[in-house]
Amino acid sequence: MKDLFDECKFGDFNLKSRVIRTGGWERDSEDGGFIKPAVFERYENIAKSGVGLIVSEMFALDPKDRFYPYCANMNYKGFIKDYKQVTNLAHHFEVPILGQLAFFFYDDGVNQKAEPNDLTIEGIRKLQAEVVMAAKKFSFAGFDGIQINMAHNFYLARFINPYFNQRTDEYGGNTEIG
Ligand SMILES: Cc1cc2nc3c(=O)[nH]c(=O)nc-3n(C[C@H](O)[C@H](O)[C@H](O)COP(=O)(O)O)c2cc1C
Repeated sequence: MKDLFDECKFGDFNLKSRVIRTGGWERDSEDGGFIKPAVFERYENIAKSGVGLIVSEMFALDPKDRFYPYCANMNYKGFIKDYKQVTNLAHHFEVPILGQLAFFFYDDGVNQKAEPNDLTIEGIRKLQAEVVMAAKKFSFAGFDGIQINMAHNFYLARFINPYFNQRTDEYGGNTEIG
């Protein structure tokens, strides 16, 4: 019988258990700067607790993009240094770690709060390029992969929701394979 604490495969990863620690915000200040020792300690405690995989707190890429004051973003100058330490901690306990990217709102360069229907194809290309940029940045900081947040009614959740997305191009319509 399968057990929660069995080793298992998840894609390319070998996990020590089936427990996945989901994204949960870690910040306790509005300065947006370097992370504090308590956050490193928390990641260390999680990594040695027997989890199979860790997902980081959610990061925005655009410093203006925040839905609460403590929102973490990956555009401060210590990001790589800080998260290299966090990912090293996870890897020390042989736990893979994913960086979570979220777009709370989306600034397409014309509208700071563009809705899915507003985005031009250039706007979509900009968004795609930003996802690639974030993935690169996570990779430089030692993360093993990226989790793209498409929940919580944030921008990409609205993008895949037919209530908000009534586009008639290839970025709208039914996602079911007919
Ligand atoms: C304090 C707090 C921080 C959270 N931070 C994140 C996050 O960074 N990324 C994420 O995907 N979800 C985050 N969530 C949402 C949770 O992962 C989860 O989806 C939500 O709490 C609903 O699940 P529950 O009913 O089991 O609590 C957070 C939730 C709470 C309460």
